Amino acid sequence: MKADMIVGIQWGDEGKGKIVDLMAQNYDVVCRYQGGHNAGHTIWVDGVRYALHLIPSGVLNPKAINIIGNGVVVSAEALIEEMKQFEGLLGRLFVSDKAHMILKHHILIDQAKEKLRGEKAIGTTGRGIGPSYGSKIERSGHRLGELRDTAKLATSLVEFYTENKALFQALDIITPDFVTLKAELDGYADVLLPYLADTTQMVWKFLDEQKRVLLEGAQGTLLDIDHGTYPYVTSSNTISAGACVGLGLSPKDIGKVTGIVKAYCTRVGNGPFPSEDFGDDGVKLRDKGKEFGTSTGRSRRCGWFDAVACRYASRINGCDDLSIMKLDVLDGFPQIKICVAYEINGQRVDTLPEDLENAKPIYEEMPGWESVVGCRKYEDLPQSAKAYLARLEEITGTKIGLISTSPDRNDTIIL
Ligand code: IMP
Repeated sequence: MKADMIVGIQWGDEGKGKIVDLMAQNYDVVCRYQGGHNAGHTIWVDGVRYALHLIPSGVLNPKAINIIGNGVVVSAEALIEEMKQFEGLLGRLFVSDKAHMILKHHILIDQAKEKLRGEKAIGTTGRGIGPSYGSKIERSGHRLGELRDTAKLATSLVEFYTENKALFQALDIITPDFVTLKAELDGYADVLLPYLADTTQMVWKFLDEQKRVLLEGAQGTLLDIDHGTYPYVTSSNTISAGACVGLGLSPKDIGKVTGIVKAYCTRVGNGPFPSEDFGDDGVKLRDKGKEFGTSTGRSRRCGWFDAVACRYASRINGCDDLSIMKLDVLDGFPQIKICVAYEINGQRVDTLPEDLENAKPIYEEMPGWESVVGCRKYEDLPQSAKAYLARLEEITGTKIGLISTSPDRNDTIIL
């Protein structure tokens, strides 16, 4: 059996939550493989609101097993808080003991460094993601498995704080002493130790047993540390290849890859966004699409569908198809723009350039439509909406497999 995957195609917030929630009903196992509690989506089930940041969406399918892979960075505090929303997680949630921890000093360093960057700030979520991955790559990080010996872990951390005293002083960060630290780590260990596992072996076993496994990407392709709009990116590999590393799978274990993309485009934080609309349309997209971050509440920058970036993202992820989310947000726009190429220094560019900062969008305009809200059949879509979707398929070179016409799970067209 191969594992299927969903991956964000833009700068995150594509509406992956709705699709994973929908798909998770049909999978035995749902896995996260990168990112941390910088991600977030809200799912409503029977009038109850669930906020998910770290726990895979399969938690809302009582029969599904949920795995947080080694590639995720885990704030024990955030995970424990999130777990409180659910009962009976033991045996249904497993966390890799190789996953690196986000410790309090990572969060403080993230926030302090953003302040120091001033105008050049990345606009991080301030959750300690970059510093935790930084420690991992620098080989000074700590894995969740180390919670099995909290005295040793606390000793090692206190040594680290002492060795890096100058850095912490410069950033105005007060580090905890051994006793405080050990007590905090003991609290985490008490809750989390029963959930720690060798999740790589588990996923291999599930695949061998012909179980259906879904891999849930967080953030989006253009935030990938290697292939996104560096340095305005997150610190993990958000593309499909990241799932192999973040879970311990081989490329041969991967089955279908579905790219999730909004019918328009948004971005939170700083960095290039050629098709951003600074006028009334941008405001209208933000208000209609309720474009405010689930994790941080920040308002998102809004603009038109960037077909060049989508074509790039589709290729790099190996997307079998695309799910087009929030088509209904485009209702009522007389004209809808698609960014089909860029202009840089007077030249037309058809591929994603290194110099995205200086790229001006070249738009194609298509007639809008009145309403697609709640449409559940492709035949019922207005002609101009069908034409828009057909054009997206044509320019991105990827077929559309699903269209979402409202936040409701059922308002979905499956092609
Ligand atoms: P970090 O991941 O907190 O380090 O933030 C780095 C960049 O990624 C910032 O621009 C964030 O706004 C963005 N980012 C991180 N997580 C998400 C997400 O889940 N959705 C959208 N943007 C995100």
